[in-house]
Amino acid sequence: MAKKTYYITTPIYYPSDKLHIGHAYTTVAADAISRYKRLRGYDVMFLTGTDEHGQKIQLAANENGMSPKDYVDNIVAGIRELWNVLDITNDRFIRTTDEYHEKAVQNIFQKLYDKGDIYKSEYEGWYCVPCESFWTKTQLSDDGKCPDCGRDVEITKEESYFFRLSKYTDSLIEHIENNPDFIQPVSRRNEMLNNFLKPGLDDLSVSRTTFDWGVKVPFDDKHVIYVWIDALSNYATALGFGQDIQDMGANADYRKFWPADVHLVGKEIVRFHTIIWPAVMLALGEPLPKQIFGHGWLVLEGGKISKSKGNVIDPVILVEKYGVDAIRYFLLREVPFGMDGVFSNEALISRINSDLANDLGNLLSRTVAMVDKYFGGVLPAEREYDSPDDELKQLVGETCERVNDLMEKLQFSNALTEIFRAVSRTNKYIDETCAWILAKDESKKTRLATVLYNLTESLRIIGTLLQPFMPSTPKKMFKQLGFDLNWLSDWDSAAKWGMDHGNAKAESGEVLFPRIDIEKEFDELEKLVQMKKSGSNVASGDCSSGESDGDCDGDGRESDDGDCDGAGGESGGCGSGGSGDGDDSSDSGGNSVGGEASSGIGGGVGDGGGDSDSDKGAVKAGANDMKTGKDAISGKDMISGKDAISGKDMISGKDAISGKDMISGKDAISGKDAISGKDAISGKDMISISGVGNGVKMDEKKNSATEGLITIDDFKRVKLRVALVKVAERISKADKLLRLVLDDGESERQVVAGIAQYYSPEELVGKRLVLVSNLAPVKLRGVDSNGMILAASTDDSTQLKIVTIDGDIPPGATVR
Ligand code: MSP
Repeated sequence: MAKKTYYITTPIYYPSDKLHIGHAYTTVAADAISRYKRLRGYDVMFLTGTDEHGQKIQLAANENGMSPKDYVDNIVAGIRELWNVLDITNDRFIRTTDEYHEKAVQNIFQKLYDKGDIYKSEYEGWYCVPCESFWTKTQLSDDGKCPDCGRDVEITKEESYFFRLSKYTDSLIEHIENNPDFIQPVSRRNEMLNNFLKPGLDDLSVSRTTFDWGVKVPFDDKHVIYVWIDALSNYATALGFGQDIQDMGANADYRKFWPADVHLVGKEIVRFHTIIWPAVMLALGEPLPKQIFGHGWLVLEGGKISKSKGNVIDPVILVEKYGVDAIRYFLLREVPFGMDGVFSNEALISRINSDLANDLGNLLSRTVAMVDKYFGGVLPAEREYDSPDDELKQLVGETCERVNDLMEKLQFSNALTEIFRAVSRTNKYIDETCAWILAKDESKKTRLATVLYNLTESLRIIGTLLQPFMPSTPKKMFKQLGFDLNWLSDWDSAAKWGMDHGNAKAESGEVLFPRIDIEKEFDELEKLVQMKKSGSNVASGDCSSGESDGDCDGDGRESDDGDCDGAGGESGGCGSGGSGDGDDSSDSGGNSVGGEASSGIGGGVGDGGGDSDSDKGAVKAGANDMKTGKDAISGKDMISGKDAISGKDMISGKDAISGKDMISGKDAISGKDAISGKDAISGKDMISISGVGNGVKMDEKKNSATEGLITIDDFKRVKLRVALVKVAERISKADKLLRLVLDDGESERQVVAGIAQYYSPEELVGKRLVLVSNLAPVKLRGVDSNGMILAASTDDSTQLKIVTIDGDIPPGATVR
């Protein structure tokens, strides 16, 4: 039986300048989904490429004293190399200067003309000579000047061919209404319907005469075909569509893969993809793509931190410094697909340190070291079950199903959250089972082997599931675990707990993700930024100062004493070693914006600021903008245009960063809003990603007056939980100590507290306390203590009051 096909595309990138991390975002996302689909048995066609025509490219080439083709050849080579560096597995790469594409575009134009859907007329509008841009009246500044440069505009007329876009308004509305998945996230669908389609479309100017770097109109070579018609057609021409004007869809690849399953695009170009492109395909009598998914933007923090530290946004440099898997992980984990998110080097580094070095890296190295130390690397086959195994097996065993479900909805961040929940739960299992204590008792060898098998089995599943996101890490994990690399190609094996590992021989290898010293790293990054400022070729961004060259601005175009037995052993003692508490990830900024889960795919609401700001200009643009030719609707213009997206705010991060909901100390630091995402999601300003909170604190580090303060990341390492006192009793021969049994929401744990002089056991039972839940266990007077409760005391210790919770909240609730 023929495999099911899956066709996914990225936008084709303008080779007007080097690509930055924001561009890499779309392609990495498309690559993750392509890898996932291949692992699930699909015959995948993954297309990307470059959009090489148009006035902007022509001007850039002129400025560099080169022909447009020589100019783009150079940049395109760099783009291809970038995709190599990022481990992108595209099946095709289309250039709009490819001969076969140009021919197909001419055939498309001719066909539409022959059908009467293209006609010759005159474009009339406002023209800014220095900018060579057409504007509609409503797009002009309040005083009637060019919205870009503020200079005078003149009314102008240009001969142009028009596409009868208006004719397709009703069919488009009907299609969108009958196919709820056609435009995702849903917020973008509503925006297209309400702001563009329902008010009615005007016909679209689809040729230009004022420059010649483009595909010539086949029957009138004074005109070049409007660059968006040229560019959008790539999705079909790359499959061989349009080679034969008599039978445009004759090509076997087109027959096999069209219609596309999804076009991934940035939100600012959703309009072109959901209105112009489908209208052209309707006019040609071809099926429409199944889905257009408009993701949000990565924007740079515009606050002080960027100014003082700068941000390296050149993906090649970032990969060189941190490795490709770390960059891919960050891009897919940090920003829920569909929403905007802040990119910062510090957010990147904290993700690497917390998730990859601490959680995943430590889990692997501890496990492999123990298998090696206690069993010479090969686990015996005999098993002895114990109850802590159940929860681990269940959670890890179900992860695959959850990941499948989320990947089908393009919810990369939530899928990774699920995988890292399995990582945290496995780390917790190490703490629960204390292998190094079992190792001291010969009679517990079989149990020890079982514990270690469970750890390796978790890692097998985790490694398998990480493949779409991090292509190299799973192989490294499997190598250290002594597993057969072929197991990785069996995705479904990740859904089945209990695989026989045969005689797999574990052997420690390189540290997966070395911890990064943040302070040192910033100094280095700062040097890189300075080098760039002094003229070297490093893409960096300081969008707030407006001098970014790679402007990753989302415009897309152009923002007691610890005497635990075994402590100090291979894992640093029972309970230590960087294990999480099972829901580690829920504290993180990434999850905070888990609007993916709470508000449907991408939620879309998070970026409302950007989009709705854009509505003002965009609504009008729905009809007129489309006539204005490439300049008027190019991203740059859309974004920087006053009406468009209030670029200043998005780019400088005014709203994004300094917005009261986002960063104002309390929220960002207490995490109430930033972490729960409450304001982040509903907030008018933007989605807060972990970097936002960090930004405030990191900045303070520079100030001697604030020395000694910790970062939000330091704070987040302490896991504070609500705990309910179930039992309290005195400890014999220890006047100051009470033994407490606490319900921490997940299990019951014993904590020894030095509060016997201040509280009687009876008055404590039933109280809800604040527990430090990730403290390494210790023995106090021979009694195990697993955690610590918080209390306030005077300096002379005459008074002590425990910290209690004001009201009913279930045990286990996070204290932030
Ligand atoms: N050439 C057009 C697309 C034509 S598709 C038929 C174009 N090119 S672009 O190079 O400006 O942008 C390509 C993609 O990169 C867009 O989807 C855009 O949203 C995305 N991004 C550019 N900067 C970005 C961020 N800072 N963040 C996220 N995506 C960004 O538009």
